Amino acid sequence: MKLKDLYIDFFISKDHKQVPSSPVVPENDNTVLFNTAGMQPLTPYLKGQTHPLGKRLVDYQKCVRTNDLDEVGDTTHHTFFEMLGNWSLGDYFKKESITWSFEFLTEHLHIPVDRLAVTVFEGNALVPKDSESAAIWESLGIPKERISYLGVDDNWWPNMELLGPCGPDTEIFYWRSDDPVPEKHDPSDERWVEIWNNVFMQYNHDENGFKPLEHQNVDTGMGVERTTAILEGVNDNYLSSIFKDYIKLIETESDKEYSGENKKSMRIIADHIRAVTIIVGENSGIKPSNTDQGYIVRRLIRRSIRHMNNLGIDVNGDFLKKLILMIIEDYKEYYSELEENRENILSIVETEKNKFAKTLEKGLKEFSKAITNCKNNSVDGETAFHLYDTYGFPIELTMELASEQNISVDKEGFQEKFKAHQEKSRAGAENKFKSGLSGTGEIETRYHTATHLLNAALKIVLNDDDIHQKGSNITPERMRFDFNFDRKLTDEEKKSLEDLINEWIDKDLVVTKDEMDKYEAVKSGAEAMFIERYPDVVTVYSIGDASKEICTGPHVSSTKELHHFKIVKEEASSAGIRRIKAILD
Ligand code: ALA
Repeated sequence: MKLKDLYIDFFISKDHKQVPSSPVVPENDNTVLFNTAGMQPLTPYLKGQTHPLGKRLVDYQKCVRTNDLDEVGDTTHHTFFEMLGNWSLGDYFKKESITWSFEFLTEHLHIPVDRLAVTVFEGNALVPKDSESAAIWESLGIPKERISYLGVDDNWWPNMELLGPCGPDTEIFYWRSDDPVPEKHDPSDERWVEIWNNVFMQYNHDENGFKPLEHQNVDTGMGVERTTAILEGVNDNYLSSIFKDYIKLIETESDKEYSGENKKSMRIIADHIRAVTIIVGENSGIKPSNTDQGYIVRRLIRRSIRHMNNLGIDVNGDFLKKLILMIIEDYKEYYSELEENRENILSIVETEKNKFAKTLEKGLKEFSKAITNCKNNSVDGETAFHLYDTYGFPIELTMELASEQNISVDKEGFQEKFKAHQEKSRAGAENKFKSGLSGTGEIETRYHTATHLLNAALKIVLNDDDIHQKGSNITPERMRFDFNFDRKLTDEEKKSLEDLINEWIDKDLVVTKDEMDKYEAVKSGAEAMFIERYPDVVTVYSIGDASKEICTGPHVSSTKELHHFKIVKEEASSAGIRRIKAILD
């Protein structure tokens, strides 16, 4: 039985309900590109909203992290990975959480107690030293020498800066080495690898500081890829049962062995194509493009093709199709949409492959020329832009190729050229929002800007700064907007909302876009719902002085384009959440 099934069954036996994995491309939240942790889709419930399935939950969750794509190619980093988690929403706390983790690891995964060590929180001004967790661990048979007390840098999740639900945690480590297990746990010894993190979520961190949550929650996370490798006794995730067939296929198709220099290319292909299959295989309709998730997919495919070329795999052959079918076969039992979208995945990857395969050879030649001619060991911005524009080399690909030759790339110079080019083509395009905006139509764009105005207007009209967007859905016909509020709006309030928004529209406020560090954005007063989900640098849209929100866009250029805002319905959506439907006419 697979780890995922063992885990789910175990927690179901402890009265947990299984929640299905949320899509890896978040629904109704365009502030982040991908879901990066198991708890992310559960954030509203960790903050106090009632979950329809109750107070004990368990799941496996699809996650994608793109902040360290450059690390992929080593033994442990992955773009797509699965996280196992169990949650208590104001139900059980430390004793049950720790006892069940111990029981699952030792009795169900048969990990010897002797190979385990744990860390607990040493205490700070908010939360005292976690002697309680330490005592529970000891009572289960973890000796004192294997329990380390550490501070907020290690035993606080996510960390002291990020906003959202948080708290001290206890982490479980496994001795991953053939060397004898030392009696004492040394947190700096990398042979101890973390396998499970149990967070005791007691606070919500917002702009005003740490407020105790109404409920004490438990949030846990265990990485499927790493734990599977450990259980199978391999030190390289790509040799575990999750990846080994993909690596074998790559060996056969390239007629090369998984060793030495080849390893990196083989790992990148297996990792990236697995991620692409999962992302494109969802129902959100992501396709390779030059923006947002589509751009990540494009980069992953093009980087894989470049590494196929490295290994001597025919880029015009059907290798990618074989690999994708293998991945679908492995995951369809867990994510049935992969089976339903099989043809779509294959055709999207095929189209992108054909596009890039045509220019790859020529582009590589052009690149070789560029590095022979380059000055100061640096490829200039204009050349990098030419490689992008004419040969479809994402800047990251050019940078990777250059770094392999110990040459740098003038990324800023590239970005200047890129911007200038974009402005030119935008000015020329009849419908400026249709260009490069991943299929978002003009009407949806107008509604999207209207959601920001409504978000701002609600705070003013209802005189409550704690009102925030809890979801939204836009069609060409109307917008839907969910927000936290505990009663029906009066007719006067609805009228005031319409009046205020129409006043803003009539003033023709200019919409501006800035890129900034996410903490700066929050400090500057930008509306930010789930700061822990954002990348380090975020885009902030301001609408005159009326609104400022972290968001990926797109938006109109000024509010006149919205014409006129009208509320058509105001109703309850769920406990404590109201829903407004509105139109622009
Ligand atoms: N949310 C915690 C983590 O991702 C469990 O490690």
